[in-house]
Amino acid sequence: MKTPLQILDGFKARFGTTASAYRAPGRLNLIGEHTDYNEGFVLPAAIDFYCWAAAAPRGDGKLVIHSENFNETIEARLDSLSPLPEKHWANYPLGVAWALRRAGKPISGANVYIAGEVPLGAGLSSSAAVEVSVAFALLRQSGDAENRAELAKLCQKAENEFVGARVGIMDQFISCFGRASHALLLDCRSLKHEFVRLPPNLQLVICNTMVRHELASGEYNTRRAECEEGVRILRIVLPEVRALRDVTLSQLEDHRQNLSRKVFARCRHVITENARVNSAVEAFRKGDTTTLGPLLQDSHRSLRDDYEVSCRELDLMVEVAAAQPGLIGARMTGGGFGGCTINLVESAAVSDFRRNVAAAYSSETGLTPEIYVSPAAEGAKEITLEENRPVK
Ligand code: GLA
Repeated sequence: MKTPLQILDGFKARFGTTASAYRAPGRLNLIGEHTDYNEGFVLPAAIDFYCWAAAAPRGDGKLVIHSENFNETIEARLDSLSPLPEKHWANYPLGVAWALRRAGKPISGANVYIAGEVPLGAGLSSSAAVEVSVAFALLRQSGDAENRAELAKLCQKAENEFVGARVGIMDQFISCFGRASHALLLDCRSLKHEFVRLPPNLQLVICNTMVRHELASGEYNTRRAECEEGVRILRIVLPEVRALRDVTLSQLEDHRQNLSRKVFARCRHVITENARVNSAVEAFRKGDTTTLGPLLQDSHRSLRDDYEVSCRELDLMVEVAAAQPGLIGARMTGGGFGGCTINLVESAAVSDFRRNVAAAYSSETGLTPEIYVSPAAEGAKEITLEENRPVK
């Protein structure tokens, strides 16, 4: 549980001066998985877990970045930024500085102190939270809406081109734009978005399988390439298609013979998932929870069978949740291959749900899951000492 004071004290202990502090949330995607890089629709919410970044300028053109989580400090010259070895934590903040500079943003050398509370590698976007908080800190700004969209895109660029993961825009966008008590429907082509109020009698329960499959980042880029392959082939007969977003299920069925079994299945997931996002938004708006549940379960099945990004532990977590009273719906969330499930649960049932799911999952796997309950939270912002209160 971090407070602004702790972050600023951490900064002071390390760098000896005062600083400005910012925080950016992780996210939970309600539905719309692996649709963002296909120019489709997503429905994430920001969660009450943050990455904090405090920064103060320095005059020598250097970035000195300390990670509280890794207890390590790195140094780099702003005018010659290049990636450290793969998987190094500092590639995220360095990539952000690189992308901001390339876009001509006025950043100077700085001391930066980063402390993340979003569980790492759990599919809750700890990386986007680092990127967005560092972008705010380096620019020392709180950001109006236009800036926020641009910042989200620059953070995505950092991850695509500096870190080397070809992620879509969802995570950075919701980290910038989250709103308390709301999910956000995002059209990943136009970046038009609307907020969708979450029913007050339901809670977002996040079940962490505690497994992280090693191949994940390579598999992510492979899925993306398979979708591009689908678009390339479909465009031969449907030249108006720019992305899988533009293909209907019946068009896909009509041209099934042109696609490999695998590419067909990947495309089918994306097309049906886009439709599920729109149905889910309608169901949320009408308060129709009987429709929502099956949409979440279908999303999970499609990710498991057509997109093949689930794993045994995620399937099991969804299965044990489905047997609990008060569950509206459950599915894996995020990139997959491990990480978390999202569970929409009636508020009155949450404590039994947590206890029962944890017990059932442990007895099947021998693993102790972490289960978090989070409200939908606010997006990135500057934090001042007046707000010196626990945030969780
Ligand atoms: C990761 C990526 C997102 C999105 C999801 C899958 O979280 O960062 O852009 O593609 O996977 O929906």
